[in-house]
Formats: sequence, C-alpha cells, structure tokens
Amino acid sequence: MPVPKAELHLHIEGTLEPEPAFELAARNGVELPYADTEELREAYRFEDLQSFLNLYYELMAVLRTERDFEDLANAYLARAAAQGVRHAEIFFDPQAHLARGLSMGTVVEGLSRALDRSEANHGISTQLIMCFLRDESAESAMKTLEAAKPYLDRIVGIGLDSAEVGHPPVKFREVYEAAAALGLRRVAHAGEEGPPEYITEALDVLGVERVDHGLRCMESPALVERLVRDRVPLTLCPLSNVRLRTVDTLADHPLPAMLDAGLLCTVNSDDPAYFGGYAGDNFDAVRSALGLSEERLRELARNSFVASFLEDDEERRARYLAEVEAYEF
Ligand code: HPA
Ligand code: ZN
Repeated sequence: MPVPKAELHLHIEGTLEPEPAFELAARNGVELPYADTEELREAYRFEDLQSFLNLYYELMAVLRTERDFEDLANAYLARAAAQGVRHAEIFFDPQAHLARGLSMGTVVEGLSRALDRSEANHGISTQLIMCFLRDESAESAMKTLEAAKPYLDRIVGIGLDSAEVGHPPVKFREVYEAAAALGLRRVAHAGEEGPPEYITEALDVLGVERVDHGLRCMESPALVERLVRDRVPLTLCPLSNVRLRTVDTLADHPLPAMLDAGLLCTVNSDDPAYFGGYAGDNFDAVRSALGLSEERLRELARNSFVASFLEDDEERRARYLAEVEAYEF
C-alpha cells in the first residue's frame, strides 16, 4: 500500500477520464468534437494553462445530472483510495456548470451523494472547496457565493482558479471578505503562472490559509522567508507543472529546493485525468525523478495532513499522522 496521504489540490472536473467522458456524452446526448478516446487523448498536449483550460471546460459539457457528478466523484475516490489517499479536500467549479444551465444543487447534491459514502466505501474522509473562476467577474463570484448559501454545511471553504495572469487576487477582495464572514476557509491558486506578487496579495488581501501551487515564490527570497516563518502550506502539483510547461521536466522541479528551504510543501494531482497521474503517481514521479529520500516522502505525507482543514476533528488528524509515522517504505 502507498504511503497514507491527504489530497488538498484536486479539481473534481479534472478527474474526468476519456472513457467515462464518452459514456456520459452518450448517456446525456451530448456531442463531443472528438471521434473517440484516442482522438481525445491526442488533444492532451498542452502549451500552457489556457490551452488546458479550453479542453477542461469543453469536456465538462458531458456532466448534466446529479448522478453524473456522483459517478465522477466515485470514480475519483476509488482511484485515490488505491493510491493511499485517506483524506481529500476537493475543488469544484460551480460557475462552469451554472453557465451551462445546471443548478448549484445538481452539482453539490450530486457530489455529496458520493462524498457522504466515501468513508464507508473508500476509506477516505472528504471536504468540498468551492472555487471561483478568476477570469470571470467579481460580481459573478459574489452571485455564486450567494447561490451556495443553502449548501454551506457541505462546503468547507473557497478557492480561486482558472486563468491566473491578468486576474490578480485583489479582484476578489470583497467576495473573500464575505466568505470569511460566513466562516469559510480560504485558499487560492497563486504563483502557478502568475508572479510572486500574486502570492503575497493572496495572503495579504484575501487572507488565504494555503496557497495552491505557489511555485513561483522561489523567485522571491523574502516571500520564501515569510511562507516558512508563517508555516503557510503550498499545494504543489508536479505532474501538472510539467504538462502545463511551468517546469521543463520533472527533474527540473524546484520541490527539493523548496523542502530544503523549509517550505511546508504538499504533493497533489490537480487534474489527474489530464496530467498523467493521481496523487500516488505524483509521489512516485517525484521520488524517481528527484531522488527524494524516504524521509522526504514521509515529510510530504505528514505535511498533507498538517495542512488539511481538519480542525474540527483533531483526533482524526492525529490518527492519520500516526499512520504516516508508522508507514514502512
Ligand atoms: N490551474 C488553474 N485553474 C485550474 C487548474 C489549474 O491547474 N485546474 C483546473 N482549473
Ligand atoms: Zn489547480
């Protein structure tokens, strides 16, 4: 069994594999502009974040009903369980679905049908994090937060994703303030393609508790020092960085330097159906490409639970951490 870990950076829509995409398309009478899964896989050669996002939003068209979201989440949970995931904090992108005429209820209730049975069926505890699309307006984000109000008992926090450059965190100041007032936890993608200043702004203006990606902090020694001092977790996604060309090859990934600097790094899969691997695959890949020691891998697993939003269940966190310490590589 792989090392026990929490997954903290996972877009549920990014777990849609080609075969189920075609099955859902047939089930829902949705036409996909690809002849078959082979042709679809050909489209998985990305230049950058935007070229990935184009396909990511296109394929979502096959998700129509509660059952679709339930099936999607169940398929992810089964794969994650097989790769040692014990706790998952799952992103979803409601604006992408509301724009297609679906309701917030369809998305959240559908996902919840799978998540409510996740512990029993897959041995994975779960939380949901609702992301706002930063290339949409702040007003749209605020409306989305409003639409989520009936479902807040199922949503632990908010995040910020989609095209980063040109959409700085400050654009979402008010919606993050409103979410904080509702007791929601706050994270944001920052420093994936955007500059280190976006990371600082996410911390200062949005009050985020974790930074998703955060890779480009390495360009600012002062920022690294701050992130280390304040123990701000970073949810890194190494295979995603290679596929979206944020790093040239996995061997060039700054993860070892980030760990050496004392940053609280975690390893996650982002959009595993698109980037070539789930959480355990990301652990295996960094282990072999970067020659990480077993103690470094244990540190990454430990960090994932330390960085989890498990404050309501510290007993569970302690149990997971004990599993990490007892694990034999
Ligand atoms: N970055 C930004 N937005 C996203 C991503 C990502 O890797 N995946 C899905 N939405
Ligand atoms: Zn992401």
